Amino acid sequence: QTQRTLVLFKPDAVRRGLVGEILSRFEAKGLSIAALELRQIDAAQADAHYAEHVERDFYPPLREFVTSGALVAAVLEGDEAVEVVRAINGATDGRKAAPGTIRGDLSLSNRENLVHGSDSPESASREIALWFPNL
Ligand code: CMP
Repeated sequence: QTQRTLVLFKPDAVRRGLVGEILSRFEAKGLSIAALELRQIDAAQADAHYAEHVERDFYPPLREFVTSGALVAAVLEGDEAVEVVRAINGATDGRKAAPGTIRGDLSLSNRENLVHGSDSPESASREIALWFPNL
């Protein structure tokens, strides 16, 4: 079943010059790009995106991180796109993520883990509406 999902290439991906490498993996898998844009977000936008995490201990430094520089926001589309993107991204903690995944191959951090992918179709709808209201 065709789905859309929101993907963020976080500021570490932009700073490290890994946007092309990461996008290549999604494209090679067969996902298509419905939207793609370089953005710089402020704290309010970070809080809206991470609404379910704002009270967590790890959130203040996460907010610092995601507002620390440009990021790339994208909407990717394809069969079972939500689950497929999460599998390609790998486990949250780059130190534990499986080799072959983006985080497993390219990240050593639980926070600076290069990518975000919506965690369910419901989250995808909410996040796409938040980031790309005209889509
Ligand atoms: P993401 O998939 O964007 O969803 C929430 C983000 O919070 C996660 O990726 C990480 O960047 C970050 N995160 C989750 N858990 C932790 C943690 N324990 N410590 C630091 N950052 C975390």
